[in-house]
Amino acid sequence: MPRKPPDSSRDSFALDVARGLGSAPKFLDPKYFYDAAGSELFELITEQPEYYQTRTEAELLQRSAPALSSILGDDVSVVELGSGSSAKTTILLDSFALSQDALHYVPIDISPTMLRKTADRLSARYPKLSVTPIASPYESGLARASTLVAENERAANQMLVLFLGSSIGNMEPDETVHFLKGIRSHLESKDAFLIGFDLQKDVETLNAAYNDAAGVTVRFNRNVLVRINRELGGTFEVERFAHHAFYDEETGRIEMHLRSDGDQIVHIEACGTSFELAAGETIHTENSYKYTRPIIDQLADDAGFRVREVFTDDKDWFSLALFIPR
Ligand code: AVI
Repeated sequence: MPRKPPDSSRDSFALDVARGLGSAPKFLDPKYFYDAAGSELFELITEQPEYYQTRTEAELLQRSAPALSSILGDDVSVVELGSGSSAKTTILLDSFALSQDALHYVPIDISPTMLRKTADRLSARYPKLSVTPIASPYESGLARASTLVAENERAANQMLVLFLGSSIGNMEPDETVHFLKGIRSHLESKDAFLIGFDLQKDVETLNAAYNDAAGVTVRFNRNVLVRINRELGGTFEVERFAHHAFYDEETGRIEMHLRSDGDQIVHIEACGTSFELAAGETIHTENSYKYTRPIIDQLADDAGFRVREVFTDDKDWFSLALFIPR
């Protein structure tokens, strides 16, 4: 029988799962939420009434666009990390397109399919926009983007880098500083970095955002087990894992877990082993950090930036922070 060709992404998924489920406490890396079904579920989460983040950030982009234009001037190329569908970015592009003769947009994402769709849609919407999609992880994508922007004689060579949606909140604090330093190393003093930060607020609002009444977040959380079953030959009985999400004031983060309803054994073919779960034991699937102004200032400082401006909504729920290289 012909042997299956090696599949390195499946192998590293299996290794990460074996490491996470072999640890005490058990955990899974949140990046594995985002297969096609998980990405769709996340889009649905952003439409839930309890998930205020996406709406609030869109309003803030709308409100801050004129101020951004006047801070940055009218000669900006926009680079976006984790662009997804670029839905919110059009708010900024609309505003920049009014004042610039030519506009260069470089979306960076790991999904080539999403990038292609976005590039087609945006090129049709803005005649003076040139879109250069880059399918790659953030930092290597940004390295390529900065070369491209510098070489593009028709467009501006001042970069505005965007990292929206409080995606930064899913990184651990030491990872966050490392990530910000990496971005800083590809920027020049004239460039700017706009980051969406979800802010600390009352516990009820935070808990509700991760426990929506329609149960979309439950499906999103369990989807990682569905994915392990399908891609790695797992035997998870998905319904036997309860969604558990709560805000921890001490760490300033939402924790998401899947809690086993009884003693059970799960076999995962690609890991070549089985894992035991006790009744009530949880698999920690995600952290989502929430910020304060002093934390944002400290992050900027640690990574070699200064905070030029922080745009916040009337309820102080979300903010867009403009970082400038120091
Ligand atoms: C992608 N990220 C910013 C979301 C968040 O709020 O941390 C992921 C998410 N998890 C549960 N709901 C949404």
